[in-house]
Amino acid sequence: MSNAKGVSASGHEHWGSRLAFVLAAAGSAVGLGNVWKFPYITGENGGGAFVLVYLGCIALIGLPILIAEILLGRRGERSPIGALGNLARREGRSPAWGLVGGLGMLGSFIILSFYSIIAGWALSYIFASGMGTFTGADADAVGAVFSELLASPARLVGWHTAFMVMTTLVVARGVRHGLERAVKLLMPGLVILLIVLIGYAATTNGFGAGIDFLFTPDFSRLSTSAVLVALGHAFFTLSLGMGIMIAYGSYLSPQTSIAGTAVTVVILDTVIALLAGTAIFPIVFANDLTPGAGPGLIFQTLPLAFGAMPGGVVFGTLFFVLLTFAAWTSTISLLEPTVEWLQERGRNRVTAALTAGLGVWALGLVSALSFNEWSEITLFGKGLFDLLDFLTANIMLPVTGLGVALFAGWAMSIASTREELDVSPAIHRLWLVAIRFVAPVAVVVVFLYNLI
Ligand code: PFF
Repeated sequence: MSNAKGVSASGHEHWGSRLAFVLAAAGSAVGLGNVWKFPYITGENGGGAFVLVYLGCIALIGLPILIAEILLGRRGERSPIGALGNLARREGRSPAWGLVGGLGMLGSFIILSFYSIIAGWALSYIFASGMGTFTGADADAVGAVFSELLASPARLVGWHTAFMVMTTLVVARGVRHGLERAVKLLMPGLVILLIVLIGYAATTNGFGAGIDFLFTPDFSRLSTSAVLVALGHAFFTLSLGMGIMIAYGSYLSPQTSIAGTAVTVVILDTVIALLAGTAIFPIVFANDLTPGAGPGLIFQTLPLAFGAMPGGVVFGTLFFVLLTFAAWTSTISLLEPTVEWLQERGRNRVTAALTAGLGVWALGLVSALSFNEWSEITLFGKGLFDLLDFLTANIMLPVTGLGVALFAGWAMSIASTREELDVSPAIHRLWLVAIRFVAPVAVVVVFLYNLI
């Protein structure tokens, strides 16, 4: 990333502008989590009440922790492990805090391994849409296209490989130029296409039911495990708890407002998730599909819309192109912490990217096979893909997030965070209460509830 970043007095590289960082952070946050995962977990967990809990988690826990991660990264000026270790030393705390960063990095590594499989589905749907596969297709035909893809290890691994090559190449070359340009075009593009889809959804007879499902809370449908899923997703969708925002923050220039940036990222991320839900659920209800269909939900619903609307081949292809790009800016960010860490251990950027990329690719084979050859293998009642997803999103991310909150709130001195945040005293105090008490207590309570 050396060509486009300035270098600070301490020798660490910086993003060229605030916009570059906002775009990179938003590019990381907005991805499959918004368009693929948010709708299907909302479907599985009963709709409106889940959405409310999720929004609460975003505002009360996600935003303060996002601010904390960026702050720790900028002040620590290292990879997640290095930054926390570095700061701990400066604040006179145990270097063992670096382990929090390490756990996060491990999370990013595992998440990328299965995320790339789903991103591969999106990539393959560009071609399926482009060839007119969905034109006039009914729900059964669309479902069959999806099950055939899942049943073929060769195709899943092939798309996964293509995606990991795309990711590794960008990271090896340095993200800033390509990423900045891509995100500037793609984010508005994605929003426009989601609005087109909502326009279509409004013409179906499922629109009322879809909106109702998403926005009318029915708390009798909310289970305690749903609260854990909502919390985990708040972390997943904002790319928290895995060191990414620490790594990206480490490249942030000292003049940029951390709080303002974080708020922008949170708003963008939330709006895109809600738009995706608004587009998808009416189509689910209009076609008698089940909202709880699981990870295949958008791949079984949206092609129906594209197949039925005028110009659907163009819109459909474009949509999956945008989804692929949204996933791409996220996978790039998922590889970054490991690469930055390997660089700190003396590798050059290209070797670091190739090593990390190959490792993630190999682990991804487990998820690819879990949809077919290994579909019988279960642990704790979950298939391997679901298990990795559950372990990372619902356990590792909140635990790392808790560690980040405790470190930023309690181990760092108040003077340090005040200086780094550079906001009004009232806002700093608000953040301090959230990071010291609200976020840690909420994470612990949700965990305890799920244990008993
Ligand atoms: N936030 C991304 C999404 O919502 O798709 C996914 C993601 C990216 C998760 C980076 C975790 C991460 F560290």
